[in-house]
Amino acid sequence: MIQLSHVSQVFAGRQGQVHALDDIDLEVRRNEFVTLVGRSGCGKSTMLRMIAGLLTPTSGTVTVAGEPVTKPRRDVSFMFQRPALLPWRPVLENVLLPVEILGLDRDSHRRRAHELLELVGLAGFEKRLPHELSGGMQQRVSLCRSLIQNPNVLLMDEPFSALDALTREELSVELQRIRMEQETTIVFVTHSIEEAVLLADRVVVLSARPGRLRRIVEVDIPRPRTLGHNAHADRVTEVSAELHELLMPVRTGETA
Ligand SMILES: Nc1ncnc2c1ncn2[C@@H]1O[C@H](COP(=O)(O)OP(=O)(O)O)[C@@H](O)[C@H]1O
Ligand SMILES: [Mg+2]
Repeated sequence: MIQLSHVSQVFAGRQGQVHALDDIDLEVRRNEFVTLVGRSGCGKSTMLRMIAGLLTPTSGTVTVAGEPVTKPRRDVSFMFQRPALLPWRPVLENVLLPVEILGLDRDSHRRRAHELLELVGLAGFEKRLPHELSGGMQQRVSLCRSLIQNPNVLLMDEPFSALDALTREELSVELQRIRMEQETTIVFVTHSIEEAVLLADRVVVLSARPGRLRRIVEVDIPRPRTLGHNAHADRVTEVSAELHELLMPVRTGETA
């Protein structure tokens, strides 16, 4: 579904060049859930922006559904760390924003908007304004908005990182449930190992700047997953420990 081949990115900064990503090769399969982890500044957001068609790589190619990405696509949606809702629009109208922008049929999408809001536990909040909602509820609205156009690809850049730990876990569980109902290829950036293990089919670990592909870890734990006591707790701990090792600074004498 998504293919990055020999992708590198060099930014011309004020203090000289910043080599953000180096020679990334990655394939994300259709309906796969990939999380992208790595230290701050290793190029995670840069990678998402390239897939979204918001940034052209310095070298290499990015394709979505077999087509080179040159500009944003309709079937790819992006969810950010902050909900960025329009403050004067009620919840339902915020969810329907992409429908207006893309000129899609309003009636059928209105039904879908109600379904999505119900899925994230916001039935009955359609007429509320964003400031009347908690941060977690606002981010749920934002999630519905990114799903309303039924995207083939959903790119999520640390979408839950501004929320408290419990709300974050709750949303991760909801996202898994939504994904069972609506198949979408997801690339999810996080710096939380727990979140990565909870959500991913595969975790892509990037090395510190310039971001290089350090390791891809398969997460073969049955869903739905939770962080609490469950039959797979041992496996969750094991994968988390592996990721932790990969993300810790390399000690002197070792090679990355
Ligand atoms: N538009 C830009 N111009 C110059 N440098 C940039 C730009 N965007 C990102 N960078 C730099 O590229 C590196 C990777 O950034 P980013 O992808 O945002 O990292 P991450 O999301 O992993 O924290 C950082 O050093 C950042 O400062
Ligand atoms: Mg980032």
